Amino acid sequence: MYDFTDSIILITGSARGIGFAIAKAFATARATVIVLDLNEDAVDQAVKLLIDTGGKAYGYVGNVTDAAGIEKVFGQIVKDHNKIDTLINNAGITRDNLMIRMKEEDWQMVMDINLKGSFICTQKAFKHMMRARQGSIINISSVIGLMGNAGQANYAASKGGLIAFTKSCAKEFASRNVRVNAVAPGFIETEMTASLSDEVRAEYGKAIPLGKMGSPDDVARLCLFLASEDSAYITGQTIAVDGGLTMH
Ligand code: NAI
Repeated sequence: MYDFTDSIILITGSARGIGFAIAKAFATARATVIVLDLNEDAVDQAVKLLIDTGGKAYGYVGNVTDAAGIEKVFGQIVKDHNKIDTLINNAGITRDNLMIRMKEEDWQMVMDINLKGSFICTQKAFKHMMRARQGSIINISSVIGLMGNAGQANYAASKGGLIAFTKSCAKEFASRNVRVNAVAPGFIETEMTASLSDEVRAEYGKAIPLGKMGSPDDVARLCLFLASEDSAYITGQTIAVDGGLTMH
């Protein structure tokens, strides 16, 4: 079992879904978990759940697209906890539509939250990590960023962009001992995928060699590894957690 005692792990969009599962996994591994999300009530509830199950967690409200707000919140986090050891850029949304019908605002919103939000949070966190000369950044991409998907041109572009962003940051930050990797989840059971019909689920099931959708905990376990010293020689990589859906 991992032991993250004294480590500060900041996860964006962690009030629910995959982000919350990641928060829970780190809390179980004795980390100090920072829950950052849009809504104060949701943040408070997530933090309470983590504390009730024996974890150490603190909540902050922030919108990853708001550069000035994030700078302030990250500054407050460092003031309160002295450092940020790991940043997990998890906040993300979908606004699916076929290209012919996709509205410019749906393109922009997905790019703003999924890609620009990761840029903003990475820049603000790296400022503190470079001084500490250590850190790990994990970007939650998607298999859609590797494969593309009809009806998800905006999402695929944002998640593919996040993979290229990961590689560039890995090269730029390596001399400061800050590693940057991406995780590409496949089809994971969360509120984001809850609306899929049984037919669509059955279709996906057929395409996935392991024959089933993944759980948020499957993604969380990879994040533990990528934040730990066990992955000390791994940077710039994109690792799929997808039951074998994508293979290189
Ligand atoms: P979710 O919709 O259940 O949770 C996303 C969280 O991000 C929410 O708590 C939401 O409030 C927060 N959020 C949204 N916009 C934000 C903003 N501007 N600032 C701060 N927080 C914000 O989504 P889910 O399924 O847990 O996805 C998490 C990540 O995993 C996303 O980046 C998603 O693209 C990615 N992913 C999910 C897959 C799935 O099958 N569910 C598959 C592949 C990737």
